[in-house]
Formats: sequence, C-alpha cells, structure tokens
Amino acid sequence: GRADDTLRTGYHFQPPMHWINDPNGVMYYKGLYHLFYQYNPKAAVWGNIVWAHAVSTDLVNWVMLQPAIYPSAPFDVNGCWSGSATVLPDGTPAIMYTGIDGDGRQVQNVAYPKDLSDPYLREWVKPDYNPVIAPGAGVNATAFRDPTTAWRGPDGLWRLVVGTKDNHRGLAVLYRSRDFRRWVPVRRALHHGDTGMWECPDFYPVTPHGVPGDVKHVLKVSLDLTRFEYYTFGAYDHATETYVPDAALPDGNDGLRYDYGNFYASKTFLDPAKHRRVLWGWANESDSTADDVRKGWAGVQAIPRKIWLSADGKQLMQWPVTEVESLRGNHVNITDRLVKGGDYFEVLGLTTPAQADVEVSFAAMDLDKAEQFDPAWRGADAQTVCAARGADVEGGVGPFGLWVLASDELKERTAVFFRVFKDGDDGKHVVLMCNDPSRSSYADHLYKPTFAGFIDVNVTETGGKIPLRTLIDHSMVESFGGHGRMSILSRVYPTEAVGDKARLYVFNHGESDVKVTHLNAYDMRSAKINTDIDQPIR
Ligand code: FRU
Repeated sequence: GRADDTLRTGYHFQPPMHWINDPNGVMYYKGLYHLFYQYNPKAAVWGNIVWAHAVSTDLVNWVMLQPAIYPSAPFDVNGCWSGSATVLPDGTPAIMYTGIDGDGRQVQNVAYPKDLSDPYLREWVKPDYNPVIAPGAGVNATAFRDPTTAWRGPDGLWRLVVGTKDNHRGLAVLYRSRDFRRWVPVRRALHHGDTGMWECPDFYPVTPHGVPGDVKHVLKVSLDLTRFEYYTFGAYDHATETYVPDAALPDGNDGLRYDYGNFYASKTFLDPAKHRRVLWGWANESDSTADDVRKGWAGVQAIPRKIWLSADGKQLMQWPVTEVESLRGNHVNITDRLVKGGDYFEVLGLTTPAQADVEVSFAAMDLDKAEQFDPAWRGADAQTVCAARGADVEGGVGPFGLWVLASDELKERTAVFFRVFKDGDDGKHVVLMCNDPSRSSYADHLYKPTFAGFIDVNVTETGGKIPLRTLIDHSMVESFGGHGRMSILSRVYPTEAVGDKARLYVFNHGESDVKVTHLNAYDMRSAKINTDIDQPIR
C-alpha cells in the first residue's frame, strides 16, 4: 500500500491508515464488542473528526465498518468529538457525543441505532431535538465536552458527567435526566481540580473483592496540559450528588495514574458477558507530524485491559484481557537463570521478537545492596528520578529488566526495568519501574521521554521478586509491573531493530545478582483486521 507499514502494530488496534485518537462509545451489545474511535478519514493528522467503527467477538480480531457518526447536522457540522455509549434498560444503546456546532460551540448530542436488528449497529440516527446539552451561561463553550456513559440512580434519574474548565480549573459537571432527552445541570460540580481542562472524564463503581456492599466510585480525568490521566476513588452519594475521594489518595497532578507512559483519553465499559470492566486507551505517536504523514498513519489503541480495585484497596489494577493470549504462538521458557551484576543474555528461540508477549519474574538476590534513595528526590516524581538514573546508570539493586526491540550488537534498544532503593534507615524500599527509550532509535527528531512510576511492591515480603509482562508490537512497548500494579506504555521507532531483525534481551546493570525465576516469551500472531465485510473505511 501507500502507507509505510514497517512499524505498524500486529495485534494492537489500528485502522489501515490515517489518524486516530480517543476510543469512543465502547460497549458490548448482543454478542459483539463495539469500538468507535476519533478518526480523520482523509489524513494522518488530526482533523475532519468522525467516529470510525469496528466490531469484534473477542476484543482482539476486528471487522472494520463505515464511520458511524459523522458531521451531518447543524449541531455537529464542525466535528463529532468524543463520547460514550449507554445501554438502556430495554436494551437499546444510546450514544452521547460532543458535536462542534456552526458557531464552534461544543454541545452534547444523542444518537440511536437506526435498525436494532442489525447486529453491527452500522447506522445511527441523530434526533432533530439535538443538541440535548448546550453550554449554559457561564460555561466555556470551547471547553465543554466528552460526556461519560450515563448511570441511573435509585430515584430513576439518569446522570452523566461532562468535562470542562473554568480558567485554570478543571471540572467534572453533572447532568440529570428522566428521559435521556431533557438534561438539567446539577449546580455543584461532581469534582474539580486546579489542573486545567478536564477531558474525557470517566466515572464508574468498583467493588472491593469479597465485600459486595462496599462500593467505591472511580473518577478518571485526562489532563489536557500534561497529557496524563489521573484517577481517584471514593464515596459517591446519589442523594446529595457528592463525590468524596478517599482521604489517603493524592489528587491533582499527584494523583494515581492508570498508565505512567503514553496513554490518554481512556474509557471503560462494563462487559456483561465476562463480568469485568474493560479499559481502552489511546497511544499517540511520539515521532514528528512529518513522519506521520510519510507513514500514512498515526495513533494506536492500547491493548484492552481488565481493570479492578486491588485487594488492599490502595489502587486500581490492570491486566491485558485474556483473549490476547489467543494470539500466542511459539513459546520460549527459561527458569532459574542467574544474571550476575553487569551481565545480560539474549532470549533466543522466538521467531518474531518484534511482535511478542513476554512474562518474566525477576528476583533480586541481595536487597542489602540497594542504593540509598536521595532525600532530594522525596516528593519528586518518578520520571525525574528515572531521568537521573536511566537504564545505563549502574546501581545497587537494578537496573534490571528487558531490552526490547534491540538491534544486532545492541545499537538500538528500549529498556524496561526496575531499580530498588533503600529509603532511610528503617529498611524500607522504594521500587522504581521505568521505560527508557533514549537508545531506542537512530532516527532524528524523535520525542523520547523516559516514563516511570513508583510501584507498590514490598520487595522484603516478596523476597526480592518483581514480575514484569511486556507486550512488544513493533513501535509499541506496553509493560505491566507487579502483576498489574503499574503499567507503562511507550512508542518507539527503531530503524534497525525492525521486523525479523529485532531481538530480545535480559539485562542486569546492578551490583546485586538477579535471578530470572521464570521467563515465558511468546511469538504473537497478528490480529485479523477484516476490511472486506463492508467497503473499506473511507
Ligand atoms: C482528547 C480530545 C477530546 C476531544 C477529542 C477530539 O484527546 O481532545 O477532549 O473530544 O480529543 O478529537
């Protein structure tokens, strides 16, 4: 084709070409998963935004359909921006999305399937009474968007949240409706923060394991200014319409993140078929616009992840949906292999290390060798610490981890690793999980940020063990540490470690020996993306 496919993903969702951003309207309906997404039908840059549409029975293989929602009326003539689906009690799905109207105002519109007997729900009708929510007096009409999935309170009223800002203040504003048509704002915002525009809010209940009565609500927002997302969870009361995040949780820019890397505008849905909540998020490119135009494509969806509240109630956990494992092929297994300080070894036996799924459990053998956590870093974010202590800076315990998308002689490589620090004299450890792409490519003009987080793994209790899973997919490095306690997604653009030339290594650049207690690596088959069923997407 015309597009440069060298670094396209094999099993992460991408349309055949052009620009994509946010996942939209994700839902399960009568046996099919629906994924809509922001899409430019004409180019590999943002613009001309429509809702492209794909369906799947397994969240892995997809049938691409024609765009479902596109500018067609005065209330969305300048674009169909992000929104969400709600399956109503009678089984009818309703989509709420942001339309950009003729005056450039952001308004919220509703759309319903034209033909409920079409399992693909290909055509959507927008009633003439749209918009159903217009920016009222005092609302910033150019920052008022991305309605959530609606939920119904014990009083029978529907509720949803819209993201907005008031000067520097980001807000999640609440609306209520009896009939999904007439929506009334609740005077007080559900939550706010001094963090700039709140895009793509998501609000949903989670149930701590084994305690059915004890429901908490999660509020996630996407911060336009930092391009990171953060979440809190806490108590939501329908009667007073108040949401109070748990006091122990940091809020604002210090909040917890779903992902500490390139992951944005995410959205969850409840999967009634498998009784799980599934998270979709968008991974932007980090090359240049000129590169995107040359490639002919830009943007990927992260792997769909199951999301739940940790047993200790301290954070959310994520794990790639199990269906992803259906693509696993050839398997390589390593057990109890010692990697001495300063050593590394190549994981041999995979056919496609550029398209692989790697699960590995590391055990640091001598935690006493951990270097001291510099008190100057206290309060600093993990990214700052990791920038100062990258993959090539020798340590006490770590850095150890994987070099992925590595070229012959390791000229190009992306490091995913852990580094353990001692904090103070009380023997407590701080564990850093990091993605260092500084050597990932010889190409110029690439944005190669180091991403990192402090992962809540008690290495004293685990005997120095830290598990890691990394999904490698040509230009995608998506890692899960501590069985899903932390995820970091990074986009990289190797020039030599491409296709069958990419290699996979384990490295240890710390003083302490590290044992690879288990390593299971799999070649990944490509997902089937079927564009024949309909006309190719425009
Ligand atoms: C987030 C976002 C949304 C908006 C959409 C437009 O990436 O800016 O706030 O609805 O993208 O494409």
